[in-house]
Amino acid sequence: MNNDAGMPIAVTLEPGIYYRCTCGQSESLPFCDGHHQGGEATPFRFELKTREKVYLCSCGESQNQPYCDGGCGVDLP
Ligand code: FES
Repeated sequence: MNNDAGMPIAVTLEPGIYYRCTCGQSESLPFCDGHHQGGEATPFRFELKTREKVYLCSCGESQNQPYCDGGCGVDLP
């Protein structure tokens, strides 16, 4: 994960399938670009049915990956 622990990444995404990087090596963070291959990390796959603003966990502690669950102390809107 990156150094933004406690600060979820807010992104507005179009409908589609996405892969949240979990290895931290992607050059397209917060999304996977395949750099994890050969390592132990696997990206989180998630799908959006509608255009939506989402809050992606950056601390790695969320129980609702890849989304922030507020457990880091941030008040989600
Ligand atoms: S590049 Fe990081 S999980 Fe795929």
